[in-house]
Amino acid sequence: KERGWMFEHLLQYNGFWIPPTSILEGVIFVQHHFKPRPTDIFLATSPKTGSTWFKALIFATMNRTNFELSNHPLLTTGPHGLFPLLDMYICQNDHYQDSISSLKSLPSPRLFATHVPYSMFPDSATDASSGCRFVYICRNPKDVLVSMWLFMNKSRIKDVSPISLEEAFELFCRGVSPYGPYWDHVLGYWKASLESPSKILFLKYEDMKNDPVVHVRRLAEFIGKPFSAEEERNGAVEEIIRLCSFENLSNLEINKTGAERFSPEIAIDKSNFFRKGQVGDWKNYLTEEMAKRIDQISDDKLYGSGLKFGT
Ligand code: A3P
Repeated sequence: KERGWMFEHLLQYNGFWIPPTSILEGVIFVQHHFKPRPTDIFLATSPKTGSTWFKALIFATMNRTNFELSNHPLLTTGPHGLFPLLDMYICQNDHYQDSISSLKSLPSPRLFATHVPYSMFPDSATDASSGCRFVYICRNPKDVLVSMWLFMNKSRIKDVSPISLEEAFELFCRGVSPYGPYWDHVLGYWKASLESPSKILFLKYEDMKNDPVVHVRRLAEFIGKPFSAEEERNGAVEEIIRLCSFENLSNLEINKTGAERFSPEIAIDKSNFFRKGQVGDWKNYLTEEMAKRIDQISDDKLYGSGLKFGT
């Protein structure tokens, strides 16, 4: 048990720090009871690495022929409403069996977001022969820390006092953050992506920011929906990028008002998922010393892995 962020405490489970009650129950459900289909696509992330953005990008890419831009579901339903978080799926109904039936009734291909570490997914999802695919989003840990600290203090669930940046920093560096250690979460998916590149598409938040056209194309190919030459000529890629941009999504009424209920005790104001959406905002919060320490941990942890965080 360790001091929590937003939650009273985090619990160490299989080497990762997991928030208690419904989130831990959800992780255990995924690990032991979830039955994947070969067509399932998972958007796997650590919290605050851009899940909301990529939910929108994947949903819009996958369903681009089903909707006109003028009545697109992203305009009337937030990204979280269109793309369920698998980890909390079983907690959304009062009865476990109702959640299982609802999971079974989802049409294929099912799109799920998840924060569950790769090592905790069942073999039936991770085996090379299973057919399931994962898109993993990695973000620079300094931006993740700042984004997480601000988010957690804003969206406290119970009567837990906010924590200072210094305390959040110490905990984060020691690996104590929701679904942390952050570096271990990233490395689990990174190593698996090297072994099975056709199963795991490993993307960086910063790369998507720098060159969205290239990376939305990669995303589309990976999920089995490559853009045709005609779509390219008609600017379909750019249209999706504009639709899912921070400027567009954060200004939609649906994303500004109300709360997203993930489980009976977890409801988060939708507007909290949109803050700045920039690369390098950590410079406005972390001291030089803090940045150096995180860089040092990153150098140590990523040594020999071939992975470098985006800048
Ligand atoms: P910041 O706090 O740095 O602004 P998640 O969705 O995983 O919770 O991540 C939230 C982070 O993604 C926040 O980062 C948020 O502002 C940013 N974000 C949300 N929508 C985005 C978008 N459309 N484009 C880029 N970043 C976005």
